[in-house]
Amino acid sequence: MEIQPVRAADVEAIAALAREIWQSAYAGIISQAQIDYMLGQRYNAPRLLEELEKPGYWWDQAFIDGTRAGFSSGYLTGVVGEIKLDKVYVHPAHQRSGVGGALIERVAAHGRAAGCDTLILAVNKQNAKAIAAYEKRGFSVREAVRVDIGGGFVMDDFIMARSIAQ
Ligand SMILES: CC(C)(COP(=O)(O)OP(=O)(O)OC[C@H]1O[C@@H](n2cnc3c(N)ncnc32)[C@H](O)[C@@H]1OP(=O)(O)O)[C@@H](O)C(=O)NCCC(=O)NCCS
Repeated sequence: MEIQPVRAADVEAIAALAREIWQSAYAGIISQAQIDYMLGQRYNAPRLLEELEKPGYWWDQAFIDGTRAGFSSGYLTGVVGEIKLDKVYVHPAHQRSGVGGALIERVAAHGRAAGCDTLILAVNKQNAKAIAAYEKRGFSVREAVRVDIGGGFVMDDFIMARSIAQ
């Protein structure tokens, strides 16, 4: 497995991979309309290109034998010492082989290098597979939140946190 930063030339491939993973991960959790809405909101090319350029944002992608298998992103939240694991997605064919764990550790490393000691994330309360993966990596639930994301949709999430202190 190899992890590399996402480049501008990769944004279309990342958006396509996101769609494939979201369809399999969220089909039983949120409606198709919400999947389409959130993909459009978060994975449109201008937004991705902006995040690739933004200071305090990091996008990485994992390849297995040259095939793009997953990606992650993280950003400094503005709370002192805190970085957020904003996205971690691994293609179903490559799950449970350590790719997600490696991408999470990459975001943790970006945070440590930026002087952070806490890594947080938001995960859908029904996403048991992801919650299990996060617990394995040392996260625990800090709070439950319901966030209005527009379009008549809400995100019904747990906020999880873990120490990344040296
Ligand atoms: C969550 C996700 C990123 C984890 O990536 P991964 O590459 O499978 O993770 P790893 O192989 O590093 O770790 C897997 C661990 O997670 C847990 N896990 C993963 N899938 C699981 C499942 N179906 N049932 C129970 N535990 C599971 C286990 O602890 C597992 O360790 P094990 O294989 O040694 O038992 C991946 O499952 C994924 O992309 N899911 C769909 C998208 C998603 O929900 N992303 C998170 C959004 S908040």
